[in-house]
Amino acid sequence: MKYISYLIFVIFIAVLLYFLNNALEPKSEVLHITGSAKCGECHQLKNIGDQQSLWKSSKHSEAYQTLLSTEATNFAKSNNIEEPVKNRLCLKCHTTEFHFEGTPKTSGYDINEGVGCESCHGAGSKYSPAWIMKDENLFKSSGGIKGDESSCKPCHSLKGNKEKKISENICPFQTEDFDYRTEFQKIIHPLNKDK
Ligand code: HEC
Ligand code: HEC
Ligand code: HEC
Ligand code: HEC
Repeated sequence: MKYISYLIFVIFIAVLLYFLNNALEPKSEVLHITGSAKCGECHQLKNIGDQQSLWKSSKHSEAYQTLLSTEATNFAKSNNIEEPVKNRLCLKCHTTEFHFEGTPKTSGYDINEGVGCESCHGAGSKYSPAWIMKDENLFKSSGGIKGDESSCKPCHSLKGNKEKKISENICPFQTEDFDYRTEFQKIIHPLNKDK
């Protein structure tokens, strides 16, 4: 009898440890794109700088709608390519999900966000809790990217596309050269440090 209760006790502890371990261990699940609306739940707060409104009023939040414009659809027609909203070539730089093709999305993601927060900061399912974002090292080890000049290069070519050529690496509509310092000023969205 004594032996049985000892055994039950040992099993109980083992099961407890198993659950505790699972609860405490940082989840190693695959990163998901959560969508900018999710980031906005916190980043629309004035006391941390309302990055959400700054992004919303930038061209990046219109990048998907742009593919529906007559300018874009006419370009596709006259060049005999698939219509822009179905064309992976255009979608790759005009939407978060095609920028990270193959990365799974959570249900809150909406393609209409265009070039969302995660296009530059990385898929956010793991780093999104505030306590992780407050610690720069944890943020980075959870897939977070602080963002710098290298974040822009996959989509903005340094040299403008004067001939409007069709390519994976440059937009037919990017006629001007790209200069990080001046262009970043147009989308700057700092944290409010004295919160
Ligand atoms: C639960 C609230 C919350 C959510 C959701 C959230 N953030 Fe944050 N984030 C914060 C807070 C609070 C800070 C400021 C931390 C500090 O005080 O330094 C922060 C900081 C950051 C930083 C700066 C990190 C650094 O180390 O300098 C970036 C970039 C960022 N967030 C991007 C995002 C993106 C992109 C998303 C969506 C995928 C997101 N956040 C979702 C609360 C949140
Ligand atoms: C390599 C990334 C990339 C690809 C590929 C790409 N775009 Fe773009 N697109 C951009 C960038 C970056 C801009 C902003 C350029 C600027 O203003 O300097 C832009 C701007 C545009 C604009 C002008 C928007 C405005 O506000 O005037 C249109 C229209 C457009 N793209 C349509 C398309 C279409 C259609 C395709 C597919 C045939 C395409 N893009 C492929 C990155 C890309
Ligand atoms: C086009 C790329 C891009 C997009 C889109 C973008 N960011 Fe950023 N973000 C950057 C870059 C680059 C920095 C600057 C990092 C630096 O210089 O410290 C930055 C900085 C930040 C910071 C830290 C600012 C500071 O003062 O330390 C936060 C917070 C942040 N972004 C949140 C967001 C959120 C939330 C969204 C969406 C609503 C978003 N970002 C969209 C590129 C982007
Ligand atoms: C995933 C692709 C992508 C990334 C990454 C990206 N951009 Fe863009 N950017 C675009 C597209 C697409 C547009 C055009 C949107 C539209 O007008 O519909 C654009 C437009 C802009 C514009 C407006 C240009 C104008 O003249 O109106 C600025 C400024 C800009 N981007 C700055 C940046 C900076 C700075 C970075 C890096 C920190 C960056 N972008 C990263 C795709 C991207």
